[in-house]
Amino acid sequence: MKTYVVGNWKLNFNVGEASIYLHKLLKKLPNYRDVEVVIAPSTIALQPLSLQVDRHKMKLAAQNGFYRDYGAFTGETSMSQLRGIVDYVIVGHSERRYVMGENDKMIAKKVAAAVRNRITPILCVGETENERAFGETADVIRDQVLGGLSEVSEEDIDKVIIAYEPVWAISSVKGAKLATPDEVATVVGLVRATISEVYGAETGERVPVLFGGSVNPSNAGAYLTVPGVNGVLMGGSSLILSEFIDIIDTAKRVRA
Ligand code: 13P
Repeated sequence: MKTYVVGNWKLNFNVGEASIYLHKLLKKLPNYRDVEVVIAPSTIALQPLSLQVDRHKMKLAAQNGFYRDYGAFTGETSMSQLRGIVDYVIVGHSERRYVMGENDKMIAKKVAAAVRNRITPILCVGETENERAFGETADVIRDQVLGGLSEVSEEDIDKVIIAYEPVWAISSVKGAKLATPDEVATVVGLVRATISEVYGAETGERVPVLFGGSVNPSNAGAYLTVPGVNGVLMGGSSLILSEFIDIIDTAKRVRA
């Protein structure tokens, strides 16, 4: 299985800045066949960057996409419009859940729409600080995994990636803390157990699970070697080219 290194640029970089970053990244990017490098720029940059990117070296992701293909949905971009432009789409990021009010039902429809349009959804799940403090982590993760995958058939489950991002570990959250590798291992185990319940043990083992939350060059190696973790999803560190490359190199090294 590949190791995934995914950069979520969130609401950063205009189209010109994104293009310059991509140009520099492509120049420096080694061609590691077993490391899947992905960046998720703003929607507005996706189309021009799709003409610039070398898909043999890396892939593009959208940060979001709508579940209906067309119609009266002001401001939305559909998965069908993203088809051919991106290979991946982030779905259910905590910022969309808690800032934009997305719920599991909408997220499930988005996951299904991505699969229908041959885009691999990266379904994000993660508990808040309060949920963890109240001992609700296992229930929240289970609900978000089952909820997000509720429209995915057994046939399609291999087209989905899960990312565990504890909300309290995201660098932009006030008072963010680092998750310990043990905490990550426990929740990644829960994610896999939940998937096994529905899709069988083999699938539970096979689905790629990523970790995200303040991943940087100094801790990426530790997270990438947590049992059951197949890659990392970064915000802040993906905005700094040297840090992003460093983490890609780390991913290559820990696999060797
Ligand atoms: P940071 O790496 O900045 O903590 O962001 C994590 C994240 O939300 C990636 O989707």
